[in-house]
Amino acid sequence: MKRATISLAAAILLAASLDGTVVKAAGSKDLLPAMMSEKYRTECASCHLAYPPALLPAASWRRLLSHLDNHYGVDASLEPAEVLEISKWLEPLAGTYKKVREEPAEDRITKAAWFVREHRKIDAEVWLRPSVKSAANCAACHTTADDGNYNDKFVRIPK
Ligand code: HEC
Ligand code: HEC
Repeated sequence: MKRATISLAAAILLAASLDGTVVKAAGSKDLLPAMMSEKYRTECASCHLAYPPALLPAASWRRLLSHLDNHYGVDASLEPAEVLEISKWLEPLAGTYKKVREEPAEDRITKAAWFVREHRKIDAEVWLRPSVKSAANCAACHTTADDGNYNDKFVRIPK
């Protein structure tokens, strides 16, 4: 029950933030759930930051976890028991509201329609800067992404 509550709160917050209205009032709220999985932190946030579960639908997370040996060009495989532990934590927290329900291409947050829309004003050149490297490198610009905070107040585009 507790998990469902957190997930809903995150979902509402994101929906609000994506509509660009309530976010100012919501202030520095968090997209990462209060109860973080240690397994997720150690195994899924070593090569990149801990992506908020609420930013992909459950089907995308499930697919992604089912072929970790071929994970965006790298081998991120884990023991089956570890995958199970992560999926049990991750899937109930997945995004379920309208904007995130869509399964984006390649199960990438960065290919979702809402992501493209929110980032449409960024020049193509910016994504290629060595200081950014990839759209998936959220923390390059979202200085508080490690805390799950993507509020536009804390965005700094690096040179
Ligand atoms: C060995 C390094 C490594 C590990 C471990 C790893 N990843 Fe990744 N992951 C990557 C790389 C590389 C990319 C592609 C990044 C890019 O396109 O810039 C990626 C991309 C992703 C993306 C898509 C980002 C986007 O473009 O929206 C998600 C989601 C993701 N990883 C989740 C996970 C999860 C969940 C785990 C743990 C089960 C995990 N990763 C473990 C290396 C790793
Ligand atoms: C090159 C810099 C850059 C990268 C990398 C980046 N973003 Fe953003 N992001 C921005 C900018 C700029 C905005 C728009 C801020 C504004 O509207 O003034 C934004 C907006 C957002 C918003 C809406 C925030 C709000 O307050 O309305 C979310 C959510 C978001 N980004 C998530 C992500 C995630 C998740 C990643 C990584 C998968 C990511 N971003 C990668 C620069 C970036």
